[in-house]
Amino acid sequence: MYTNVWYVAARSSELKNKPLHVKMLGTDFVLFRDQEGKPACLSNACPHRGASLSNGSCNEHGMVVCPFHGWQFDREGNCGKIPSVGEDDPQTAAPGVKTDHYPAIEKHGLIWTFLGDEPNQAEPIFELPELEDPSFTYIEHDVIFESNFHLAKFSNLDYVHLPIVHGIKFEDQENPFQPPPHQVKRTDYGLTAFIQTEATYSKGEWENVREKGTQVKSVLKYFMAGQTLRGEVEIGAIGSGRFNCFYEFSTPIDQTTTMMRYYFFRNFMTQKEMDAVALEKNLKNILEDKEIAEAQVPKAGPDGMPTIVGKHEDTILKVYWELMHEMRDKGWQIDNKKWQALVASGEYCVVPSIARKVNPKGWQYPSIPRLESTNG
Ligand code: FES
Ligand SMILES: [Fe+2]
Repeated sequence: MYTNVWYVAARSSELKNKPLHVKMLGTDFVLFRDQEGKPACLSNACPHRGASLSNGSCNEHGMVVCPFHGWQFDREGNCGKIPSVGEDDPQTAAPGVKTDHYPAIEKHGLIWTFLGDEPNQAEPIFELPELEDPSFTYIEHDVIFESNFHLAKFSNLDYVHLPIVHGIKFEDQENPFQPPPHQVKRTDYGLTAFIQTEATYSKGEWENVREKGTQVKSVLKYFMAGQTLRGEVEIGAIGSGRFNCFYEFSTPIDQTTTMMRYYFFRNFMTQKEMDAVALEKNLKNILEDKEIAEAQVPKAGPDGMPTIVGKHEDTILKVYWELMHEMRDKGWQIDNKKWQALVASGEYCVVPSIARKVNPKGWQYPSIPRLESTNG
């Protein structure tokens, strides 16, 4: 798992006027809305006695109120009031009291949180033009994979599994199980991959969208922000203008559980009654992937490219691991072994925040340990 990434913490619709508990990167956060309705994110453990802030409430000043002794925290993690000392300054009553806060913004119908201490080095949140485009309609869906984050991601990133797992063959290839050459490129936001082929035709309602013997084009993009995979297929053949497009935002809940949130866009058969058909089609693939990912070992997931790689396989995965290793080399990857040792010794750890980098002293809970940077 990696820090210094913008992760999707929730859908906007989930965050109302009550604190919301979210588990990400194996630790606990509280989301709430401030006085202006803007989202805020703090470490969920109250710095006073470790109560769960998300079990508290929100007050009229846009602060979260701890359910135990009522200490109140603003969006920056400052303690605004301690009820037992009345109007006294909290900094006099409990000198140095503060808690970790994380940048939180609302964009594309989602609540994004920046979990880390180097915001200027992280990839920013990308645009999502289909949301504003009236020719597209969309459906949303969330699925939890009981699997490690990388394994959950691979189930969609890899062309080689398409014929085996989903029955989508490369019909124009001599061997329809072998994907045609695909170009993969590193980009500033992550990677992009492109493939052109005659893929197996959809059955049922979708059958007439494309003429037999025509090719489709598929473009995959991987955005580091949200660890988002965007897939686009010009489903009605190249030049048809009929596009299927999905966004898959992935947030590690912990080392072996991953929240997958989806937007599925289409600009054909846009009638509302087709939503159920579109969802069923997409969900079929997701559930097939989920079954594979959840049964894979080791449960903690891989840490790099496997040593055995098929000849034509996995050009995308090579670039994917380059991206991940860049984060590791910057010192952003969580050190699970060290963390587990701390937990075993009774510590509760939190994701290091920007304020901690500015002033490493005076925090109630230690930082989750990370692998050392190799970038010097
Ligand atoms: S534990 Fe939160 S105010 Fe005491
Ligand atoms: Fe898949």
